[in-house]
Amino acid sequence: MTAAEDPASPNNGLSDVYASPSMTTRAPRAHFPLHEEDPRDVYQLVNDELMLDGVARMNLATFCTTWVEPEVRQLMADSLEKNIIDKDEYPQTAELESRCVHMLADLFNSPDAARTMGTSTTGSSEAAMLGGLAAKWRWKANRIAAGRSTASPNFVCGPVQVCWEKFGRYFDVETRQVPMNEQYVMTPEEAVAQCDENTIAVVVTFGQTFTGLFENVSAISAALDDLQERTGLDVPIHVDAASGGFVAPFCAAEIEWDFRLPRVKSINASGHKTGLAPIGSGWVIWRERADLPDELVFNVNYLGGEMATFNLNFSRPGGKVISSYYLFLRLGREGYRNIQAATYQVAQHLASGIAALGRCELVFGGDPSLGIPAVTWKLGVGEHAHNLFDLAEELRTRGWLVPAYTLPAGQDAVVVQRIIVRHGFSIDMADLLLEDMRRGMAKLDDRPPSRKLTDAEGAGFHHDAVPAVAAEPVTR
Ligand SMILES: Cc1ncc(COP(=O)(O)O)c(C=O)c1O
Repeated sequence: MTAAEDPASPNNGLSDVYASPSMTTRAPRAHFPLHEEDPRDVYQLVNDELMLDGVARMNLATFCTTWVEPEVRQLMADSLEKNIIDKDEYPQTAELESRCVHMLADLFNSPDAARTMGTSTTGSSEAAMLGGLAAKWRWKANRIAAGRSTASPNFVCGPVQVCWEKFGRYFDVETRQVPMNEQYVMTPEEAVAQCDENTIAVVVTFGQTFTGLFENVSAISAALDDLQERTGLDVPIHVDAASGGFVAPFCAAEIEWDFRLPRVKSINASGHKTGLAPIGSGWVIWRERADLPDELVFNVNYLGGEMATFNLNFSRPGGKVISSYYLFLRLGREGYRNIQAATYQVAQHLASGIAALGRCELVFGGDPSLGIPAVTWKLGVGEHAHNLFDLAEELRTRGWLVPAYTLPAGQDAVVVQRIIVRHGFSIDMADLLLEDMRRGMAKLDDRPPSRKLTDAEGAGFHHDAVPAVAAEPVTR
């Protein structure tokens, strides 16, 4: 008999939830509970704890989806128990994944969109690692064929998201990260200067995490063409289009950043960022079938036959892929363009509002030809009664999460604040935020902090997971 069924129990379904044993004793924290409890009471307990979390849609730090249509929620609920790896059991989910891969290859201008390879992933991190691994295996095959050493692979990048530092460390590839310059994005000259015969790829970020700016893929590609002409080194490009991949095709189609450039061999994009799918959705697509080395492919059962898989995970939820297929069909190019154009419009509205506050200097103002729908700013030169960490804390009192952080090595004296404008953030909400910024600054002017917050105190938000153990120095 469970506690709920026991008429002698205070928790027999008649008692108030807050008078139940679950609520009148401390919730277990470090020991595995001995007994079962009533689901109603435990649900309430868990739900109450979660009140301490912020409101997702007011979290302007995240790139990830925080608003979806009811149909997406329904499809997610309908597919709760579908495991994407069970291709034989759920062949139609597998079919939808395959259709999404080819649709994305088409969107990214693959010369062989109908036949090339790609896969869904848990996010851009897994997708980036698969792109990096494929580059490593292609490089290794070429080196073995040439009778050269495969001992010291490296990859070259500008200021990247931490997934690339993880890739380097987990898969033993030297990370040659160009420090951030005053333009904030890696230049073609900086990229080329780091390349040598052991470079598996240059990773170009199309929608930089720290500022929102696009790195210039076509200029870096042209510089690598020139390097090949001069030295014979043929260095491929992987584009990390985690957030740029689902905006530029719709709002800045003229930018050549994708498979239109023959040197671009693979692209990762986050379905759960500008792709508008629920969290847990990423994609990696290869230019052509031959760009994905066979060594990375494993086969699983599929309708009595075999189907290729190449993921770091085995079991994964199918709902993210199903919702992505829904979104591609529901929105098409027109719908994505409408949504992303609206987010850029809000970003630009915020940018002019922030500039009008009179003390901030824009780093990026949400121009679709330069970056993703985001706004990034720093304090202008001169003395200020507060810094951006203080302002971020002030905004927190109204529920807004607008991160302040120092830029990466090279520009680490610069503190910026950044807003990622996502589907579901309206002009009206932007105006409420601007009003709170105005009010917060006025309060900080009126009652200046006795001491400004430091980076360590103020940075409740971090882009980067800091490695527990520093990397070993690389000897070249
Ligand atoms: C440029 C870039 N690459 C990769 C990632 C990691 O993506 P995910 O969170 O989907 O693993 C991010 C996340 O913000 C990013 O901005």
